[in-house]
Amino acid sequence: SDRYAVMGNPVAHSKSPQIHTRFAELTDQALTYGAVHVESPDFETEVGRFLQGDGKGLNITVPFKERAWALAQWRSERAERAGAANTLYRLEDGRLAADNTDGVGLVRDLRDNHGVKLAGARVLVLGAGGAVRGVMHPLLEAGVGSVLIANRTVSRAEELASLFTDEGEVSACGFDAIPAEAFDLVINGTSASLQGELPPVPAAVVAANTACYDMMYGAEPTPFCQWAMDLDAGRVIDGLGMLVEQAAEAFSVWRGVTPETASVIDQLRASLD
Ligand code: ATR
Repeated sequence: SDRYAVMGNPVAHSKSPQIHTRFAELTDQALTYGAVHVESPDFETEVGRFLQGDGKGLNITVPFKERAWALAQWRSERAERAGAANTLYRLEDGRLAADNTDGVGLVRDLRDNHGVKLAGARVLVLGAGGAVRGVMHPLLEAGVGSVLIANRTVSRAEELASLFTDEGEVSACGFDAIPAEAFDLVINGTSASLQGELPPVPAAVVAANTACYDMMYGAEPTPFCQWAMDLDAGRVIDGLGMLVEQAAEAFSVWRGVTPETASVIDQLRASLD
């Protein structure tokens, strides 16, 4: 049967095999989905080796998303703008195609799963790395009113903002220059919580109607989610739903069928330890 996999390093703890296997059951699709650990020098070779015969699609995770983008011979607009790809497959003519479903995953989780109003929203994004770049185009396409990108390294925030000013009102600053005013939505796209850290953000950005979203997730509230709860933010949401929604969009790109996600999110949440 058709074969799919997530490729990365490390990849052993990826939830993607579990998620896609569940999607296949829910949609009656005959496929297998595994995890492939690749050493850095072998990435391009391993992509080519996998995507032949029954090997129909790959998800790409750290640290290879930029290399997947560079390797592709065709890119969706959202992948083009993200500068990174999380989804690879072959076009009918054999060319390697790249997509990026991370941003639409975030938008669907915020808007459709959690009812967060994106149209016209004033958004503060923390971080300016690959994870943030991957979601900028879909956020702007969803009609947010403005995005302020705040980052520890200000120059990175400025460079990232400049890539998206043609799509909307996008600006950049350091954490110390974030205005002490409430935002409609605050998104943490830094990897600070991996070190148990929290970007130094003024409490005034959070008001009773502010939605706070961490692109990371865990069994326990992330440091950012805990911070937002302590400030009585209107909504506090972690990135588990984004993970499932980006997978659902990749599944849809490959299979032409969009799986139901709510039960998969619930099951995954229950299985976190
Ligand atoms: P990713 O692919 O996860 O985005 P990345 O491109 O390395 O990874 O970006 C990591 C982001 O988290 C950056 O915005 C980084 O800030 P710098 O650009 O200043 O390095 C941010 N980050 C990482 N650790 C952080 C910390 N302890 N406090 C604040 N920001 C942090």
